[in-house]
Amino acid sequence: MDSLIRAVGERLKAATSVAVLTGAGVSAESGIPTFRDPGGLWQQYRPEDLATPEAFHRDPRLVWEWYDWRRQKIAQASPNPAHHALAQIERITPQFLLITQNIDGLHRLAGSQRVLELHGCIWWIRCQAEGTAHENREVPLTDLPPRCDCGSLLRPDVVWFGEPLSSGAQAQAFAAAEECDVFLTVGTSAFVHPAASLPIVAKNHGAFVAEINPVPTQITPLVDSHLQGQAGVILPKILSTLTKT
Ligand code: OAD
Repeated sequence: MDSLIRAVGERLKAATSVAVLTGAGVSAESGIPTFRDPGGLWQQYRPEDLATPEAFHRDPRLVWEWYDWRRQKIAQASPNPAHHALAQIERITPQFLLITQNIDGLHRLAGSQRVLELHGCIWWIRCQAEGTAHENREVPLTDLPPRCDCGSLLRPDVVWFGEPLSSGAQAQAFAAAEECDVFLTVGTSAFVHPAASLPIVAKNHGAFVAEINPVPTQITPLVDSHLQGQAGVILPKILSTLTKT
């Protein structure tokens, strides 16, 4: 494993442009449940009841109760060594983009700046009628479901199943995947597209692709290096190879 870590470190040192895709696994060591692991959210709840526009239309209160519960869990969580290591790697890389599927905001809290929150952010809420979004960190929310001053329902400013990503965010993510020299995919099962296409696009454009995950995933067969283990252990080790003189 140490030689694999050193090899990825060498690639990062030589890279001008680095793109990183993270998923729920990067926040697992902060105590936030993932979706598809044993005991994960999608083993306890059905996405079609809680994370679709139809579910919100049917029962906005139920959907908000679930998001309010997740906001409470996330509010108690802190960034872990994986988040911190990624923030440091950004500082020493000329061109860098951190593309996350996570809505927990922990990358920014760890100091990452070039962050693209592909699926939105749980701390932002949006008016159904006006489309305008604002930050809201009230935990727990007092009135469920919350309403805008205009009287319309407010919804979490996140991407639900069946909804497109913001076209600007998607274009930026794909451009970074096409241009990077090294692409890291961290803590994602790579089930959900378009995010899961990013490592494939990077590979097809000549990037060195490394995966950090305790288990093999959908994309393991195509990556150049699979670092099998926890992000909070492996990323700090990679970082230490970069900062050694
Ligand atoms: P998943 O729950 O599908 O996958 C989490 C991945 O993290 C798994 O492959 C785990 O093996 C891995 N993992 C667990 N602990 C880890 C650790 N300590 N270090 C590194 N990896 C670890 O979550 P995502 O791939 O993020 O979308 O799911 C993608 C999307 O599906 C989510 O953004 C969400 C979900 O439905 C929407 O809600 C739209």
